[in-house]
Amino acid sequence: MGTHKSKRIGILTAGGDCPGLNAAIRGVGKTAIVDYGMEVIGFRAGYAGLIEKDYVELSESHLSGILTLGGTILGTSRVKPFKFVNEGDDEKPELIKQNYHDLNLDALVCIGGNGTMKTADRLAAEGINVIGIPKTIDNDVWGTDVTFGFDSALQIATEAIDRLHTTANSHQRVMIIEVMGHHAGWIALYAGMAGGGDIVLIPEVDYNIRSVCKKIEERYEGNKPYSIVVVAEGINHPKKISAAAHIGEAISSYTGIETRETVLGYVQRGGSPTPMDRILATRYGAFAAQCIAEGNFGTMVAIRNNYLETVPLADVGGKLSLVEPDNPLILKARKMGVSFGDEYQELG
Ligand code: F6P
Repeated sequence: MGTHKSKRIGILTAGGDCPGLNAAIRGVGKTAIVDYGMEVIGFRAGYAGLIEKDYVELSESHLSGILTLGGTILGTSRVKPFKFVNEGDDEKPELIKQNYHDLNLDALVCIGGNGTMKTADRLAAEGINVIGIPKTIDNDVWGTDVTFGFDSALQIATEAIDRLHTTANSHQRVMIIEVMGHHAGWIALYAGMAGGGDIVLIPEVDYNIRSVCKKIEERYEGNKPYSIVVVAEGINHPKKISAAAHIGEAISSYTGIETRETVLGYVQRGGSPTPMDRILATRYGAFAAQCIAEGNFGTMVAIRNNYLETVPLADVGGKLSLVEPDNPLILKARKMGVSFGDEYQELG
């Protein structure tokens, strides 16, 4: 009988954190250990741990009790091993390869967003067996219908909007709430719809501030003397102030109506994942372990029409999943009187 060496895999979480990372680590690790008899290690602080050989052996018991925890037990960072700024940076890719081989790894699972997938693709090109798992509250990773973290952020943002309604109504104010999303307006669009926002401004649709004001004035004339404006942080605005402050100041100076701003910030990225995010992250994780067992490398796990698939990492890097201006939800919202700030282009 020949000796059978069990596979040894590494896991890392990179980029901004989000709810569901631990559920994904657990999904990969438990499936790898229980179903495939693999050994698992976790690198600390994203790609930094891979460069510095900073890792921890993960047994099945390390992976118990983490499903519901926010953040990541491995820690994360925005370290980019292929960004050469300081002297010696160009040695990092070689160091990674050396560490990967020294640690006897057969595969590396990189859990992250767009930047992480881009790096994962570079590592695959260097000969490392890589699998990517897409996460981000922004939901802007190309190639998959949804990333985990999005549903949790959506729940937090929606609850915030719900709470703003009552205070907006009591004081007859315009409440502006800013949610995350530098390039993509998914959180603003979905939370705006789920929370009954009156105006939703996203980076993908060019707004016109006079159009926004006209909508607010129409509401006042129609006996609705308060409004909720949901804005994504990435809408066009002067960078020295927040998007919410810019819109709030413009509305009060054009209309004379009292405004207040709320910038939700990192609250959206913290805390326990929703059940949907726990399930999505678990499905992604378990599928990633299966991909390793099958030797399906250089790919990112994805979900399309609720089926798990893989997409080549080479196709993912450098692209973004943005909200199309004719997204069905936008079209439906418009028919219900929701403004996207672009209705009265003639107002200039
Ligand atoms: O995770 C995505 C995101 O939340 C963006 O929407 C946000 O602008 C960015 O990360 C900020 O992250 P950090 O301050 O951690 O770099």
